[in-house]
Amino acid sequence: MKHYLSINDIDNLSEWVKEARILKSQPKANKNLGANKTICLLFFNNSLRTRLSTQKAAMNLGMEVMVMNFGNEGWALEYGDGTIMNQNTSEHIKEAAQVVSQFCDIAAIRAFASLTDKEQDEAEVVLNGFKKYTSIPIVNMESSVGHPLQALADAITLDEKSTKAKPKVVLSWAPHPKALPHAVANSFVEMMQLQKADFIITHPEGYELNEAITKNVTIEHDQQKALENADFVYVKNWSSYTDYGKVLNQDSNWMMTKEKLGSAKFMHCLPVRRNVVVEDAVLDGEQSLVIEQANNRTYSAQIVLKKILENL
Ligand code: CP
Repeated sequence: MKHYLSINDIDNLSEWVKEARILKSQPKANKNLGANKTICLLFFNNSLRTRLSTQKAAMNLGMEVMVMNFGNEGWALEYGDGTIMNQNTSEHIKEAAQVVSQFCDIAAIRAFASLTDKEQDEAEVVLNGFKKYTSIPIVNMESSVGHPLQALADAITLDEKSTKAKPKVVLSWAPHPKALPHAVANSFVEMMQLQKADFIITHPEGYELNEAITKNVTIEHDQQKALENADFVYVKNWSSYTDYGKVLNQDSNWMMTKEKLGSAKFMHCLPVRRNVVVEDAVLDGEQSLVIEQANNRTYSAQIVLKKILENL
């Protein structure tokens, strides 16, 4: 594997999950694989888990790590071809990407959706700009349309916690005061379509995700009905995709509660707004898997970096 840009770069999900769980039991077993190799982590947006877990994964593999908060410390980048750069951008992606690739062997990039320009977001201009102009592998640490490191960590968590060959997994929308991207939900849906599971998405009308991603998935607008007999409930807010980036609904009846959860396990990628997205009783209860999901971010990053290093 050269790049890890989306769930589609996983050739065999169950094998990767199995390998990641072995890495988790022996995190330093491959500590010489990354010797004399450097990874640059470039953040155009905030992070806690992605930054620390990817850094930890790289260190477990013996790599050197350089981190840059590109969004507020780097020059404003230009992505357009032939642009007369007499406005707010100072450096073109063509130079920036080539310069980065002189300093490191792998570049990992976080660049969220703008939620104002659907066409530009779907073109993944930052991620694809780096991919186009670097000579080194690129890892997606959450882009406009996907968060494949999170979804791989979620697959590891599901594998660890599932007691059934075909569990019922529900992805439930929840309210949020701000417009959030679709990336986590998109990659979770893509990952679930590679799983043996009874998978349902529930959201209010107007919150349909990209149909190209949810094709063949059952969508139920009645949250209570969707949650019946669930084994895992993955809760996430996203803004409207059709009315792009808009908050159409803040109905608190969609918040996840202990009562609604029943006996299911609760999942969320974090960060989460307590008592808006999910009530305290769920997060503080034994059915919550959120801390274990966050821990598995190290091993999802580590299996990805291991596979890239093996091909360098
Ligand atoms: N889940 C996740 O990506 O967390 P951060 O935004 O803190 O990295």
